[in-house]
Amino acid sequence: MHSNSLQQKVAVVAGGAKNLGGLVSRALAAEGARIVVHYNSAGSRPDADATVAAVKALGSDAFAIAGDLTKPENCTALFDEAVRRFGGVDIAINNVGKVIKKPIVQVTEAEYDEMFAINTKAAFFFIKEAGRTLNDGGKIITLGSSLLAAFTGYYSVYAGAKGPIEHFTRAAAKEFGSRRISVNTVAPGPMDTPFFYGAETPESVAYLKGATMNGELTKIEDIAPLIRFLATEGWWISGQTIFINGGFATR
Ligand SMILES: NC(=O)c1ccc[n+]([C@@H]2O[C@H](COP(=O)([O-])OP(=O)(O)OC[C@H]3O[C@@H](n4cnc5c(N)ncnc54)[C@H](OP(=O)(O)O)[C@@H]3O)[C@@H](O)[C@H]2O)c1
Repeated sequence: MHSNSLQQKVAVVAGGAKNLGGLVSRALAAEGARIVVHYNSAGSRPDADATVAAVKALGSDAFAIAGDLTKPENCTALFDEAVRRFGGVDIAINNVGKVIKKPIVQVTEAEYDEMFAINTKAAFFFIKEAGRTLNDGGKIITLGSSLLAAFTGYYSVYAGAKGPIEHFTRAAAKEFGSRRISVNTVAPGPMDTPFFYGAETPESVAYLKGATMNGELTKIEDIAPLIRFLATEGWWISGQTIFINGGFATR
C-alpha cells in the first residue's frame, strides 16, 4: 500500500515563491514535504528566499531555483535539479500564469504569443517533465482559471490559453495513470492577489465580487487546502478540472 503522506516527499512548485504558490509551498512543507521553490523574475528572488526560509523554519528543506519556463530546457533543468538535490520528485505543481484583459480587436501578436507561451506552452512542458521524472504515486496539479466556466468578454486570450491545460491534464492522467500518478487542473475564481488587480478597474472588481456567494473574491487560503488535498488523500481524483470560486461560475 503506497502512502499519500507528505513526509519526506519532494514537491516542485513552479511560481512557488509568492502569492498562491508561496502559500502552497508553505502548506506542503508544514506536512513534511521538501520544496523546490521555482521563481521567474529577478524581482521575485526575495520572495523565493523568504519562502525557502519559511519552509526550513517548519523543519523541512527547500531550495530556490529561477527559470523562464516558456523555454522547455528550463522545465527540464528544474526537474533535473530537483532530482539531483532531493533524489526524486513526488509532487509537481504548476502555478505559472499571466493575464491580460482587453478587447479582441486590440490584442497584438506579441501579447497573443506571450499568453500562449506562459499559460499553455510552459504548462505542457512542465507536465511533460513531471511525467518523465515523477516517482510512482506522484501528483501533478496545474493552475487553470474559473474563466473556463464563465461566459464573458475581454479575457479571450488568457482564458483561451488556459483552456488547453484541461486537455493536457486529461491526456496525462491517462498516460501516467498506470504509475498511480494523478493529474488535475485547479481553477480558481478571481483571486485577491496583485496578479488580479493589474488587469481590473475598481468597477470590474466590484462586479466580480458581486458574482460570488458573499461578495468576496477568492482568497489564496481558499485554494491551498484543495491543492494539499489533491496531493494527499485526494489522489483518486484524476483527469479533472476543479472549479473553486465561491459560486462565481459553474459548468
Ligand atoms: N489571481 C487571480 O485572479 C487568478 C484567478 C484564477 C487563476 N489564477 C492563476 O493562479 C496562478 C497563481 O496566480 P497568483 O494570483 O498567485 O499570481 P502570481 O503570484 O503572479 O503567479 C503567477 C506566477 O507565474 C510566474 N511566471 C510568469 N511568467 C513566467 C515564466 N515565463 N516562466 C515561469 N514562471 C512565470 C510568476 O513568476 P514571476 O512573478 O517571478 O515572474 C508568478 O510566480 C496563476 O497560474 C494564475 O493564472 C489567478
